[in-house]
Amino acid sequence: MLGARGGWRALRRCPSSIVSSSSFSSSFSSFSSSSSLPREQRAPAARLRVRQALGAREAAGEVQVQGWVRSIRSQKEVLFLHINDGSSLESLQVVADPSMESRDLTFGSAVEVRGKLVKSPHKMQNMELKAESIRVVGPCDTLLFPLKAKERHPLEYVRQFPHLRCRSNALGALLRIRSEATAAIHSFFQDHGYVHIHTPIITSNDCEGAGELFQIETSNETQKSAEKNHFFNVPAFLTVSGQLHLEVMAGAFTHVFTFGPTFRAENSQSRRHLAEFYMVEAELSFTESLQDIMQVMEDLFKTATSTVFSRCPRDVELFHKYVAPAQKGRLEQMLKNKFVTISYNEAVEILKQASQTFAFKPEWGCDLQTEHEKYLVQHCGEVPVFVINYPYDLKPFYMRDNEDGPQRTVAAVDLLVPGIGELCGGSLREERLPFLQSRLQRLGLADTYQWYLDLRKFGSVPHGGFGMGFERYLQYILGVDNIKDVIPFPRFPHSCLL
Ligand code: 4AD
Ligand code: MG
Repeated sequence: MLGARGGWRALRRCPSSIVSSSSFSSSFSSFSSSSSLPREQRAPAARLRVRQALGAREAAGEVQVQGWVRSIRSQKEVLFLHINDGSSLESLQVVADPSMESRDLTFGSAVEVRGKLVKSPHKMQNMELKAESIRVVGPCDTLLFPLKAKERHPLEYVRQFPHLRCRSNALGALLRIRSEATAAIHSFFQDHGYVHIHTPIITSNDCEGAGELFQIETSNETQKSAEKNHFFNVPAFLTVSGQLHLEVMAGAFTHVFTFGPTFRAENSQSRRHLAEFYMVEAELSFTESLQDIMQVMEDLFKTATSTVFSRCPRDVELFHKYVAPAQKGRLEQMLKNKFVTISYNEAVEILKQASQTFAFKPEWGCDLQTEHEKYLVQHCGEVPVFVINYPYDLKPFYMRDNEDGPQRTVAAVDLLVPGIGELCGGSLREERLPFLQSRLQRLGLADTYQWYLDLRKFGSVPHGGFGMGFERYLQYILGVDNIKDVIPFPRFPHSCLL
C-alpha cells in the first residue's frame, strides 16, 4: 500500500514519467542537454517504467528506472543486469561498467539505475539502458530468498510463498491479466449502458439458500456464546451473492451489474472452490427470455477474453506456452463459434446413454455432479455448453416457474466450460407475486423476504440475470489447473492468513 501511495506521489512530482511511450521522447529533449552540468545542477532524471522504456521509439538521456534485479551477468568488460518493475513480463537490459558491481547488487535486490536509454544492438529487445549510476535501494539475501535466478518455478512451488510469489514471472503475468480482465469486464458493462452497483458485503439474506454462509460477529459476541446480542440485532453474514440487491436496483436502473468479493463456507478444498472469490453479476429488467440472458453471458465472455488477449499478449502467451499448451487454439476456436445449448432433460438423457459409469448415477431430479458436467462438455466437443431449464426443486426460491407441469422446471441456466465445469449460473426471476409468495410461504421465508415481495407489488417487470465466477473465468482462459493460482493471496487451511 505504501508503495502505491509513494508511487503516485512520485508520478505527480515527475509528470514526464507518465507520458506514453510514443510521446515521452519529446519531453526528454529538455533533459538531455543538461547532462554536461554538475550533477546537483542537472534537471532531475525522468523516471520511466520498464514498459515505457522498452516501448520507447527513440534514445533518451538522463532517465531513471527503478525495479528488482531479475538477472545479473558480469563479464570482463561489461556488466549486464535485467530489471523488472512489474509493468511488463519483459525486463529491461541494463548495460553497465563492471566497476559498478557491488556485493549488494544481486538477484532480487531493489535498484535505481540512472543513465541513457539507447537502441539495443540485440534483435530480441528494442531498447537498453546504459547505466551511469546504480544504487541498491534494498539488498536481497539470495541464499534465503525462495525464488532463484534463471529457474522456472512451478506454480505449486511458489504457492508456498504467498507474500513473495508475485515476483515470479507466472504470478506477475497472472496478476496483470487479472487486472486487465477486471477492467475489461467493467468496460463491457459500462459500454452497454449498465449501472455499476456496490452491493453490500455484510447482509442478513442468504440468496442461494444453500446454507453455506460465514456468520459475522464482533469479537465480543464470539466470547459470550450464550444469549447473543447481534451487532445488527439480526444474524449477519458475508454475502454469497449480490443478486437480490441487484434486483432492487434493476427496478430503477433497468440494467445493473456488480463485481465484488463473495464468500462461501463450503468445506471444499477442490481445485475450483474458494471460500473468498470474486463474482461478476448482472441483472436485466424487461427481459422475458432466458436466451437474452445467455446472450449477455456469451458476449461478456467473448468480449472480455478478446480484450485481455489483445491487451496483454505476452502475459497470456506465457500461460499458453508453459502452463496449458493446447489452450490457445481451443480458445481461438471457441471465440469464433456460438456456444452450444442443451436442456437439463437432454443432459440427463445423454448421461444415461453414456458408456461411462459415474460415481453418481444420473437421474432426472438430481443435481449435475462435476463428473457429469465434464462428460457433457466432452460430449458436445469440448466447447462451452449452456444447460437450461433445471428441476424446480433443485434451484433457489427466486427462479421463474416454467409451468411445464406442476412445479416441474424453472428458467435456470448454467454455463459449463471445459476443464472447469460450471462457470456461470443464472435465471429468469419469478416476477409474479402469487407464485413467489406461495413458494416463500412453503419454505417458511415469507416474513424474511417481505421486502423482496414488495418488489413484485410495485412495478414488477419480467427480469433475469446471472453470476460468473471471476477466478474460474481466469482458470479457464489461461488453462490453470488450481484456482489458488489465480488469486493474489492463496489461503491455506489451518495456517495464518496474510
Ligand atoms: O451459481 P451461483 O451460486 O449463482 C449465484 O450466486 C447467483 N445468485 C448469481 C446470479 O444469478 N446473480 O454462483 C455463480 C458462479 C458459479 O457459476 C461459479 O463460477 C462461481 O460463481 N462460484 C465459485 N467460484 C469459486 N469458488 C466457489 N466456492 C464458488 N461458488 C460459486
Ligand atoms: Mg450455480
